[in-house]
Amino acid sequence: MDTQRWTRRQVLVGGVIGMAGLVAPREAARAQSRPAPPAAAAGTLKIGGDLTVNRMGFGAMRITGSGIWGEPKDAAEARRVLRRAVELGVDFVDTADAYGPQVSERLIAEALHPYPQGLVIATKGGLVRPGPSSWVPDGRPQHLREACEASLKRLQLARIDLYQFHHIDPKVPLEDSIGELARLQKEGKIRHLGVSNFTVEELARARRVTPIVSVQNRYNIADRTSADVLAVCEREGLAFIPWAPIARGSPDILESSAASKALEALAKAHGVSVFQAAIAWLLAKSPAMLPIPGTSSVAHLEEDVAAARIRLSASELAALG
Ligand SMILES: NC(=O)c1ccc[n+]([C@@H]2O[C@H](COP(=O)([O-])OP(=O)(O)OC[C@H]3O[C@@H](n4cnc5c(N)ncnc54)[C@H](OP(=O)(O)O)[C@@H]3O)[C@@H](O)[C@H]2O)c1
Repeated sequence: MDTQRWTRRQVLVGGVIGMAGLVAPREAARAQSRPAPPAAAAGTLKIGGDLTVNRMGFGAMRITGSGIWGEPKDAAEARRVLRRAVELGVDFVDTADAYGPQVSERLIAEALHPYPQGLVIATKGGLVRPGPSSWVPDGRPQHLREACEASLKRLQLARIDLYQFHHIDPKVPLEDSIGELARLQKEGKIRHLGVSNFTVEELARARRVTPIVSVQNRYNIADRTSADVLAVCEREGLAFIPWAPIARGSPDILESSAASKALEALAKAHGVSVFQAAIAWLLAKSPAMLPIPGTSSVAHLEEDVAAARIRLSASELAALG
């Protein structure tokens, strides 16, 4: 069982201290003179105790066609988004075999392979796609094995750093699905296992089968249904990866939340957009949080990543809840 626990200080400085011992003095001096990329302003967290990433990730679901189906309208822009994310210091890219399907993973390999050192590509398996906007769970062990092996091939990886079980299949006990992923891990095809769309109880069941290092659930300022799961992650040292961190790009939803006035006040006080304020709130909310805003546009990406530098005061955080 993973018993690593977060403290705010560990999350902010742990990665930096951990790496300092590994680099030669001249290299360290050169690294210090280079300006830190924007995503680094979010601080770092360690996934599974050994993967240090900046807490500002990128979600690669939106670089596909409408309904998360087929090719994107502008494939060149999609590749530019991926490359720009890395330039901005993003070193955690979330994807899934189901995005496109296959399109997101393929574009990641086209744009970024050979991958820069330290880039973590987190993919998922467990959902199949009969058509646009349609998602069907398939948690059969045989399917998960085939999905994982196909992702390895598409991403041109020998091992996937973080493989997430996308969604429980109501027809398959979650222990059977997770058990097969644990076997793939033992075979060296997966480094760490995460889960997605899990309740606290389901997470506890999965963790009785094998160590789980992350949970990816919907969570944003207007939808805190998974607050209990976040609390478990924080307590137990798991990363919490909120999907739809900016409520799918809907200012109306963000502003419909109970905290809408405080969110608008925060955006105004810092001279930032409501999306940036929503991301800054997530980062401030918990040191276990690893937001993955998604976009198909370089301009939006730059705006989202720039939120990493926004610092909330204690009273701003209290007002947002
Ligand atoms: N595990 C799961 O079941 C699950 C489910 C859904 C998503 N996810 C993951 O979570 C990631 C994020 O979720 P999401 O994409 O659904 O929601 P999101 O990140 O909250 O919002 C993405 C939407 O916001 C727009 N957007 C982004 N930045 C913007 C900006 N600065 N200004 C205006 N609009 C902006 C994007 O449109 P443009 O393209 O026009 O910028 C896109 O339509 C996904 O990419 C995926 O990796 C996981």
